[in-house]
Amino acid sequence: MMITFTFILTLMQLLLINPTEAAVHPVLTYKNASTQLGQMVTSSTLVWESYDAKDAKQLQFAVEGGKYITEDEHYAIYVCRVPIDGVHTSGHTEKVLQKHVCVASHYKHGKYEAFDVLMNKGHLGKIGWKHWRKFDAGVPVGAIRIGDDSFIGRHRASRQHNAEGGETHWGADFNLGRLEPVGLGKIKVIENEREKYYDDGEVLIETEPFRYELRDIKLDRIRTDIRENLTELTTAKLENLGDKYSTVETVMSYSFDYLQYWGSHEGVARGLPTKIYEKDVSQPADINWALKHGQKRFENKAVHTKLWPGTAINVTLRGNYVTLEAPYTAKLFAFYYGSDESVSRKISAEVRKSYLKDVKLEFSAVYWIENGTVVPTTTTTTTSTTSTTTHATTTSTKEPTPINEPPLVHIEHMGEKHSGPDTLEKTLHDSPSSSNEVNSHHEAPENMSNPSKDLAVAGFGGGPNSGAEMLGRTLMTVVLTGLMASILNL
Ligand SMILES: *[C@@H]1O[C@H](CO)[C@@H](O)[C@H](O)[C@H]1NC(C)=O
Ligand SMILES: *[C@@H]1O[C@H](CO)[C@@H](O)[C@H](O)[C@H]1NC(C)=O
Ligand SMILES: *[C@@H]1O[C@H](CO)[C@@H](O)[C@H](O)[C@H]1NC(C)=O
Ligand SMILES: *[C@@H]1O[C@H](CO)[C@@H](O)[C@H](O)[C@H]1NC(C)=O
Ligand SMILES: *[C@@H]1O[C@H](CO)[C@@H](O)[C@H](O)[C@H]1NC(C)=O
Repeated sequence: MMITFTFILTLMQLLLINPTEAAVHPVLTYKNASTQLGQMVTSSTLVWESYDAKDAKQLQFAVEGGKYITEDEHYAIYVCRVPIDGVHTSGHTEKVLQKHVCVASHYKHGKYEAFDVLMNKGHLGKIGWKHWRKFDAGVPVGAIRIGDDSFIGRHRASRQHNAEGGETHWGADFNLGRLEPVGLGKIKVIENEREKYYDDGEVLIETEPFRYELRDIKLDRIRTDIRENLTELTTAKLENLGDKYSTVETVMSYSFDYLQYWGSHEGVARGLPTKIYEKDVSQPADINWALKHGQKRFENKAVHTKLWPGTAINVTLRGNYVTLEAPYTAKLFAFYYGSDESVSRKISAEVRKSYLKDVKLEFSAVYWIENGTVVPTTTTTTTSTTSTTTHATTTSTKEPTPINEPPLVHIEHMGEKHSGPDTLEKTLHDSPSSSNEVNSHHEAPENMSNPSKDLAVAGFGGGPNSGAEMLGRTLMTVVLTGLMASILNL
């Protein structure tokens, strides 16, 4: 399955780039893929990552499960899991000294120092807690599997009354545990060091985007590489088989591969339909994210000239086949079914485009059809640019012959034009202030260690908008259409 494959690639990249990085494991979500409800699918945006107490930044991508509240401290708690008796069991993190531990069982020492944390690395998977009641039918679509047959759930901590009769809820505001779908199902959490079962609670749901948009594309001008390859596109012969000086005409057709590849990015689902909004381009290009997009493009040129009877010229079209490669930054927007909100994040990747430009006509000297001998006084090859007329220059000083007119060759574009400098290439020639260039002085990259901007919608851990406020947004409808299903089945 493609998404699994993507994950493996991502995993390999992680391991190759940084062999010391924490171990990463796939996350399975309960999906309505294909005809069968309840298929387990590898999430393209979520992973389990082993906790590394030495990596202070690791938890910025962790999925938040609630808040831990004490008299003098409020901090986010995250979804974690540990293997207990060989079965993955979920819980939430708590701080002990400066480290996090995973609270996942009621056993005497039910706080684990070695555990996995649920990460939303790409920031484009939408995570939310959905209300669940025993009488709702079964496991909600998008639920995240933990163990053999259980899904991440939570239950609000019961409030305690203090001596004055006021409410306090020191400790975790939610106890994280699991939804066990046995029978009508129950939510099991660890509460005050005891295992408790509930008929209602909340289940963590992942909604994957169904399409993306790439905007605010900025090329790294300095690291842009442009390779040009002068290519012969097509040749033809213009010949006068008649008996008087007259115009002969031909249409020359050729094709080239227009290719674009906008790179891939961790946590961004491969294959999703993506609209590319380049600067100054009226129509966005439609591609599938992280796949090479190729199109055969056809063009026609009409070529005509006047020739004397019995003579001919050879005409050749050549073009510059260009491959442009450049690192870029852009904003990737993700869209979800049943929601008008999009989530965006800044990404860095590499773009590669191949296209054709500078199509030129070349033509030979005029020659006799009968024996191929060049008619004296006409020229050797000269070139003309598109849609212009070129007058061949006379290089011979010999006496003019009856066919002493150097040919006047006209070329005209027919139909839709596809060749020419690519839009990306054009932006490189703009003045720096208005170009697509990455400009670190004017636009610092977004501070990824401070994800609060995306947090309200994306609902991953660490920022001020998570927790209770997130709840209000989480009653999302998870609608998977046939399109989604077909993507998952690729
Ligand atoms: C140039 O183009 C030709 C034909 O399109 C191809 O065979 C050749 O490999 C290309 N050369 C380079 C250096 O890309
Ligand atoms: C015209 O093209 C033919 C083959 O297409 C070639 O044999 C001939 O030499 C060419 N003539 C000139 C004058 O270039
Ligand atoms: C080639 O043919 C043309 C036209 O018939 C003639 O004028 C010319 O002398 C010929 N050239 C040669 C080298 O045979
Ligand atoms: C990024 O954000 C973090 C946390 O808000 C802050 O400590 C850090 O200084 C910021 N870095 C930059 C380069 O803005
Ligand atoms: C899941 O798929 C079934 C059949 O394809 C459909 O009837 C149902 O509405 C879907 N549920 C969701 C939540 O998409």
